Amino acid sequence: MNPTFNQSGTSLDDYKFSFEYYLDYSNSIQADSIYDFHKENGRTYHAYRAGAYHHPNDATEVERLDDQYQILKIILDGRNYLAPFSREKPPHKVLDIATGSGSWAIDLGDEFPEAQIIGTDLSPIQSDLVPPNVQFVIDDATDEWPGGNDWCNFDFIHTRVTIGCWSDMLTQVIRPAFERLRPGGWMESQELMGILECDNGPIPENNAFKMWVDDIVEACIEVDRPMTFAASLKKWYMDAGFINVHEKVYKIPINGWPRIRKLKMLGQLWHANLSNGLAAFSYALLHRTKGMSQEEIEISLLDVRRDLADERVQIYESFYVVYGQKPEGDSSSTPQPQLFDTIMAG
Ligand SMILES: C[S@@+](CC[C@H](N)C(=O)[O-])C[C@H]1O[C@@H](n2cnc3c(N)ncnc32)[C@H](O)[C@@H]1O
Repeated sequence: MNPTFNQSGTSLDDYKFSFEYYLDYSNSIQADSIYDFHKENGRTYHAYRAGAYHHPNDATEVERLDDQYQILKIILDGRNYLAPFSREKPPHKVLDIATGSGSWAIDLGDEFPEAQIIGTDLSPIQSDLVPPNVQFVIDDATDEWPGGNDWCNFDFIHTRVTIGCWSDMLTQVIRPAFERLRPGGWMESQELMGILECDNGPIPENNAFKMWVDDIVEACIEVDRPMTFAASLKKWYMDAGFINVHEKVYKIPINGWPRIRKLKMLGQLWHANLSNGLAAFSYALLHRTKGMSQEEIEISLLDVRRDLADERVQIYESFYVVYGQKPEGDSSSTPQPQLFDTIMAG
């Protein structure tokens, strides 16, 4: 399969983006390789920059990401962002870094039909059914970002659940994003903290779910993708130069332990999502760092599933939403030299 330059298969004339600079590049790369997924323990993983990210990209994981997207939307009361955009004050150029299945970008394209939305990812796993103003691009965000007029002067740059993607989110994502925003533009990160907290005392040391999270946190450090960064985002935004920085933290119960109906339902949904994701979160990380086989991992997950479902221990995760504005007077978003290290997903 060859990558194509738009998702819906219609003429490029329908689009406002300038694709010319991708065309030369597309002739010179091994384009099929982005679909030549790495296979490991019955799951598939991204081919572009293979090995950089440790969660699978197969249909099971894409379905879980879509479910997770809907749950996070419930937490945000149906919103996709907290930054101050609206129908009256829409963004015109939006970038979603590490877009995954692309649900957020697609929703934003529907909400703001006049805006141009680009979603980037290592995996070409986005839906084919996209509004004409949404485009997906295969790109490693830890590389220098692509150049050209399409890649600067953004009104809005967004990340969501990029836990385990970066060795240093400040230098790899937040600073480049600041540079590519137009003066007055906004960045927003919606990230899970990846540390368990508890409402009724310390979590017992022998709780298998807690022990599993500790193992995953340790494995992420070992592969240089530290996952517990969400609480640092506010400071990183300010260090990068953002002003009007806001932080909002939401509790996500890991199962149906809360009494309040809405929180209970949220916990039940999160429990289902976590249960569906346990294998995905574990296989590559524990295989690559601890040499565990698929069978050993599945056996260890039996206890993890049991304690994940235990409603006597009131465990929750924290979900951070941080957003900030590039100062009006800052004009650092100038077109960059064009780099041809980007492939359109198709
Ligand atoms: C947990 S998923 C989240 C996807 C999406 N933002 C969401 O909220 O559903 C993380 C995504 O980051 C992508 N990713 C990981 N490292 C990346 C990198 N260096 N550059 C671009 N995307 C990356 C993965 O391929 C994966 O699709």
